[in-house]
Amino acid sequence: MQQKSKMIGLFAAMSVVGGAAWAGPDEDQLTINGEIAIVTETAAPEHMANVKTIYSGWRFRSDETQAVQMDDFDNPGMLGVENALVDWETADGSEGKSCASCHGASEEMAGVRAVYPKWNEEKGMVTTLEMEVNNCRETRMGAEKWKYTGSDMTDMVALISSVSRGMPVNVAIDGPAQSTWEQGKELYYTRTGQLELSCANCHEDSYGMMIRADHLSQGQINGFPTYRLKNTKLNSVHARFKGCVRDTRAETFSPGSAEFIALELYVASRGNGLSVEGPSVRN
Ligand code: HEC
Ligand code: HEC
Repeated sequence: MQQKSKMIGLFAAMSVVGGAAWAGPDEDQLTINGEIAIVTETAAPEHMANVKTIYSGWRFRSDETQAVQMDDFDNPGMLGVENALVDWETADGSEGKSCASCHGASEEMAGVRAVYPKWNEEKGMVTTLEMEVNNCRETRMGAEKWKYTGSDMTDMVALISSVSRGMPVNVAIDGPAQSTWEQGKELYYTRTGQLELSCANCHEDSYGMMIRADHLSQGQINGFPTYRLKNTKLNSVHARFKGCVRDTRAETFSPGSAEFIALELYVASRGNGLSVEGPSVRN
């Protein structure tokens, strides 16, 4: 009963602030640079019992914010990609190697973003792109690890994402990744914090609603890293998770933790079929 009244309070706040209680995703279509067609709406993957159609967060943003992502010259997230291209070519660490020494052109990473997080056979665990990058830096380059949500790292993930734009997100949730996926699903549906809200309460039950003048999306991560107009920088998936958990007034997990890795796999799988969009632009 107590939980219920809290929910009612939250939803009352959402609709009062927004004026209109609910407004679905708009009908706009996203093509980047006039050439990369992005799927922003498609049938939900079978494992999602309560949702029929999935939408990119882009469809919930204003026309002005949407426009910034439609051309790489306007998208400030592409500055991060350019920074990462310099790192890509620059030797670092005791082995005197750069990413390019082993991987060639950054375009060779096309398709990689779409399948991460992914089971890593050698490590015997699900890994994120950030973990793969740091693994290469530490064990293959003899270089210092980058901070999980630091700008060097997020820029590099933006570069790796950018070369997969337009490709469908397709993370595997079966086989050895299944138990991690189940853990992520559990976290997604667990109510936390003083507000006793789960990710699902907002991003599954209430997407389309207005919350503090913000149009609530499905909380998809196909657009990450995301350049946010609010903090004028590229934001990584785990930094965003941290912010959302904090908004429920809960203690949050740290970026790179086992919990957030599992949650990332699960949330990514809710976007299977949408296009990779990162670096995207949001408010
Ligand atoms: C000494 C060679 C070497 C260097 C230098 C190196 N890597 Fe790697 N990297 C590898 C190998 C080998 C693998 C595992 C096999 C594969 O997937 O290509 C790998 C895997 C990866 C993966 C996972 C790819 C996938 O398909 O799953 C990413 C992402 C990655 N590296 C990024 C980087 C970045 C970014 C840098 C520079 C900061 C870098 N690597 C530097 C050799 C290297
Ligand atoms: C109290 C409601 C609320 C809860 C609970 C919540 N979020 Fe959010 N979330 C928001 C709002 C508001 C935004 C900004 C508008 C939008 O993009 O939906 C947002 C944005 C996001 C985004 C960015 C989407 C994009 O396209 O850039 C992701 C990802 C996300 N949330 C994931 C989560 C996850 C995972 C959880 C659970 C740990 C969670 N959120 C819990 C309200 C919430």
